Amino acid sequence: MQQLAEEAGEFLEVEGQMEWGSAAGRFTLLYNMSRLVVGRRVALFHGLLSFVQPRPYPMNRSLCLVLLLVASSAVGWSATTVNHLLSRTRESLDGKWNYIVDPYDSGYYDYRYQPYDAAAQPTGGYFQDRRNVPPTDLVEYNFDRSPTLIVPRDWNSQDSRLFYYEGAIWYRRLFDHAAAPHTRTFLHFSAANYQVDVYLNGHKLGRHTGGFTPFDFEVTDKLAAHDNSLVVRVDNRRLAEGVPTLNTDWWNYGGLTREVCLVVVPETFVADAVVQLDRKNPAQIHATVQLAGPQLTQPVTVSVPELHLSATATVDAAGRAELNLPVDASLQRWSPEHPRTYEVVVSCPTDRIAERIGFRTIEVVGDNILLNGKPVFLRGVCLHEENPVRGGRAYSPEDARQLLGWAKELNCNFVRLAHYPHNEYMARVADEIGLMLWEEIPVYWTIHWTDPSTLANARQQLEEVITRDRNRASVIVWSVANETPVSEDRTQFLRALITRARELDGSRLVSAAMEVHRDPAQPDARIVEDPLGAYTDLLSFNEYLGWYDGNIDRIGQVIWQLKYDKPVVISEFGADALQGLHGSDTARFTEEYQARLYRETIAMLRKLPHFRGATPWILCDFRSPKRNLPQVQDGWNRKGLVGENGVKKSAFYVLKGFYDEMAAQP
Ligand code: GCU
Repeated sequence: MQQLAEEAGEFLEVEGQMEWGSAAGRFTLLYNMSRLVVGRRVALFHGLLSFVQPRPYPMNRSLCLVLLLVASSAVGWSATTVNHLLSRTRESLDGKWNYIVDPYDSGYYDYRYQPYDAAAQPTGGYFQDRRNVPPTDLVEYNFDRSPTLIVPRDWNSQDSRLFYYEGAIWYRRLFDHAAAPHTRTFLHFSAANYQVDVYLNGHKLGRHTGGFTPFDFEVTDKLAAHDNSLVVRVDNRRLAEGVPTLNTDWWNYGGLTREVCLVVVPETFVADAVVQLDRKNPAQIHATVQLAGPQLTQPVTVSVPELHLSATATVDAAGRAELNLPVDASLQRWSPEHPRTYEVVVSCPTDRIAERIGFRTIEVVGDNILLNGKPVFLRGVCLHEENPVRGGRAYSPEDARQLLGWAKELNCNFVRLAHYPHNEYMARVADEIGLMLWEEIPVYWTIHWTDPSTLANARQQLEEVITRDRNRASVIVWSVANETPVSEDRTQFLRALITRARELDGSRLVSAAMEVHRDPAQPDARIVEDPLGAYTDLLSFNEYLGWYDGNIDRIGQVIWQLKYDKPVVISEFGADALQGLHGSDTARFTEEYQARLYRETIAMLRKLPHFRGATPWILCDFRSPKRNLPQVQDGWNRKGLVGENGVKKSAFYVLKGFYDEMAAQP
């Protein structure tokens, strides 16, 4: 067990049996765990966890955590084999897909509610994509004659009958593919909400859970030259044990919300390459390269042509190499003011990828956040992945430019991408135009803290977003949660995620959006004492003074009690205002009330100890099924500084004024 506790993050060959408790209350854990690595895919845990006559038993908490980690890591992580997608040859499968709405899962379960695809001889199931059915056969679906949806897009904003739909929809796409010799082909999804089952030519490729991160399946030997049938069942039903769980304040857009494509790579290829300025020794760029495929022992070269830098190393038996490239003053560090990126080439005899990367360091020293060694104030705003004007989930480079462009107009240098990983274009555009980013996984409100599958799901989403974006200079914070109720189980759960984030990427800050507590004995006191604050780099919390918490005229009276001397970043504050609704600044939902709340909050925050940044809630109005005040909200959370029509509200200019002043400070 000691060995297990030590290697909670990483499992190797482990075998054993553990027993404790009285004869009556024995728990027996037989486990055998092995780790197989194919490219980046970590495989199986096969074990037997059996509970013999479980009784209420005082379990030691950290033992509980280890058990949770054991069980959760069994589920496997990192669902992408091919990273650096945007540097790869891709055959897009975007466009029109036929679809079938299946609220009763008739295409998935038989009348005994058994999944068709689990049967040795399936007797039905839409995954078979039966076509040219003879009139004698009974087949009660036909993709060819079914309507179409556009991919990438959510289904809710494409058809008003699907606006509120939560359930399964089957997508089908036919395509040809000319396989090139000595290559491998992966079917890649940049994201799909929430749980998908993927079938190719009637065979199940697998399932992915989590609506906001990429995943792929190798299809090299499963493709035909013509008429491949790709069938994807997408189910966006909210699950209590899910991540997120049942209750959120955003629209549960369903579907193939981001790109689908075939990625073709050489038999042995660069599966992953992390190239960053070494935080511990910024006089060098450090690169870690992972090859995948049969020909692992090859030399790999990492070069930065514009800086005449190049280094070569031979990968080890596991296909991994570490390289250092000494840099001098000619390297221009990335910053929002100077978003300088360089083309970085990672090559080996069988493969080559090129990517634009910015080099910068980010760290916390005392109560300061240092960007490239200098204190920085985070002039931020929060953002949902939604294009309010077009409607629906944002998914394209154009959406990213629109949304981040508004943040730039506010004179922001920082954006909190809430509450789940946004599409990859956000970070790419932020790298390019100069915005630092906070990326978050949807561990939001009341998650099932003690359910191993929930932890595994959250971990997987964290690993997938870190794997995708850890070369992005713009990304400076990984956030593991938002507004989660303090409890020992919750804190253990989040600590496991923080540990995992630091394992995968020790070069960035890790945090969470925590909450403010009150003390009935001190009405004006606001207390931040969350035990999680001991493990995060920032003390970031949401406060809603003047909206959910007390009257607007009390904002200035607040007395802060902060348990930690860490940089304070206010991860949310704000108020609803309907764009164009005007009135007294004491009338909620008017632009005047929102603007006043911003003025009063900014005045109060100027006096807050360790105040190093803020991301007010929120850049644009966004759809939420929780907001139903007629003629004001109508299904929109109106805390945006920009209305759903793209028109800026008065508070936009209040915040811009503050940021202009902060930006002008030396
Ligand atoms: C919360 C939460 C947001 C929500 C906001 C609001 O703090 O984190 O997701 O939308 O408050 O109530 O408007």
